[in-house]
Amino acid sequence: MIKKCLFPVAGYGTRFLPATKSMPKEMLPIVNKPLVQYGVEEAIAAGMTTCAMVTGRGKRSIADHFDISFELEHQISGTGKEVYLESIRNVLDKGVFTMVRQREMKGLGHAILTGEALIGSEPFGVVLSDDLCINDGPGVLSQMAELYRQFRCSIVAIQEVPVEEVHKYGVIAGESLKDGIFRVDEMVEKPDAASAPSNLAIIGRYILTPDIFDILRETPPGANGEVQLTDALQTQARQGCVMAYKFSGRRFDCGSVPGFVEATNFVYEHLYSQQ
Ligand code: UTP
Repeated sequence: MIKKCLFPVAGYGTRFLPATKSMPKEMLPIVNKPLVQYGVEEAIAAGMTTCAMVTGRGKRSIADHFDISFELEHQISGTGKEVYLESIRNVLDKGVFTMVRQREMKGLGHAILTGEALIGSEPFGVVLSDDLCINDGPGVLSQMAELYRQFRCSIVAIQEVPVEEVHKYGVIAGESLKDGIFRVDEMVEKPDAASAPSNLAIIGRYILTPDIFDILRETPPGANGEVQLTDALQTQARQGCVMAYKFSGRRFDCGSVPGFVEATNFVYEHLYSQQ
């Protein structure tokens, strides 16, 4: 039912400099696959076959990745090396890729608003591809799309984090409806441990209803001088229309060096070496 997924991929990736000076963070590979491809595979598996990318200057390799490389196809066609192209060919067969450029990096909320031209007025998924989510059954976005069918409102994926780490995240408070599902009444972006309403942190998977665009247009810059998605979601939450979902699966913060290394080891041990 949800057909589109937005990928904000315009950020500078400063925590990964100098690797990200001329190369997008989202193209960093976890073993042999770029981060953004993991996210796209998750979206397509959830039925969100239109992948809308909010890119920026210096991010052209993302557009190239989701296109045919004619020379490469020609060179290795009919050889034993074709197997290496299997996963990306599969993605290209199933997905449609649309792009818009965010001209100034004014934050995640601003990136989402920039994506309005690609999304229009329908509910949509959002993947922050530096959060890599891996699990055995249906992916996190599939789990959330299922919930959307029940609740018809915005949904944020959450995870319990140690209290001393809440300052890195948006944090929620709300009424627990059933196992792992909360109706959100409060959201705070990057609170300090003392003022955090809980240790339930929002991670990089969302389902958003399209009224978020009008709210974002009216949302002034918040923490770090950036337009924060969490602030706009707080407005939706006041209307009783944001659910938080403690998903099943593992999540790695690949925007940070330790999370990236952890993900690499995990994927190598559990997925790659078992292929
Ligand atoms: P992050 O804050 O994790 O990404 O934003 P960043 O800014 O690239 O990383 P650091 O903190 O400098 O290391 C979450 C997601 O939102 C995108 C980023 O590309 C990332 O996928 N983003 C962020 C945008 O697309 N535009 C922005 O203006 C900000």
